[in-house]
Amino acid sequence: MRIIRTENYEQMGRQAANLIAAQITLKPDSVLGLATGSSPLSTYRHLIELVRQGDISFDRVRTVNLDEYVGLPAGHDQSYAYFMRTNLFDSVGLDASRTNIPNGLAQDGDAECRRYDELIASLGGIDLQLLGIGLNGHIGFNEPDDVFVQGTHKVKLTDSTIQANKRFFEKEEDVPRYAYTMGIRDIMQARRVVLIASGKGKAETIARAFAGPVTPRVPASILQLHKDFTLVVDADAASLLP
Ligand code: GLP
Repeated sequence: MRIIRTENYEQMGRQAANLIAAQITLKPDSVLGLATGSSPLSTYRHLIELVRQGDISFDRVRTVNLDEYVGLPAGHDQSYAYFMRTNLFDSVGLDASRTNIPNGLAQDGDAECRRYDELIASLGGIDLQLLGIGLNGHIGFNEPDDVFVQGTHKVKLTDSTIQANKRFFEKEEDVPRYAYTMGIRDIMQARRVVLIASGKGKAETIARAFAGPVTPRVPASILQLHKDFTLVVDADAASLLP
């Protein structure tokens, strides 16, 4: 595990964008695993800037996103499909045919999970997976559990996640209760993993995940076992790391 400590959120985004840019430079047809939430926004802004300057191109890149809320159509302004289009895809010329995200409206949830795992396999796996981290240590929507769940699956969101995500919705009742998420195996099979975190609010989570035991009660802790894992944290989020 490598740790890159930065001064603040903007620098965290710049460092993560540089790692992704290096990946695209070395392998222009990379498969990128992407994340949503407020953490990746500065990363995506820096990537868009690098594209505008002509330093990198997404022309041959394909993407798979970690997760999607069950029940939200792709056009809903809180769906992760919408988030990705407006915060990255449209600005770097990634059209829908080269991006993938679980279908929140799938009729048959089990079939949708199988389809997603097969899709990742058919792309040849993920070259670089970008992750944020939930306050309870979740990655994607892999919530604390007694076991590490392997493949894409439907999860019931925990109260802590619903509380954390309600800020994006008009009312708490509007927050979907279920989501589809890639599983821990999907994430661990990515050839490189980069997790970003910033702010004092994440400090305890970061210390539990990366300076404590590997346990499914803190799903991100399994990344300690990944062969090519980089943690990019700002000073506040790193403040409780030894
Ligand atoms: C959601 C997403 C996660 C993300 C987490 C943290 O629950 N499913 O992928 O890492 O939120 O979000 P934020 O970056 O806004 O703290």
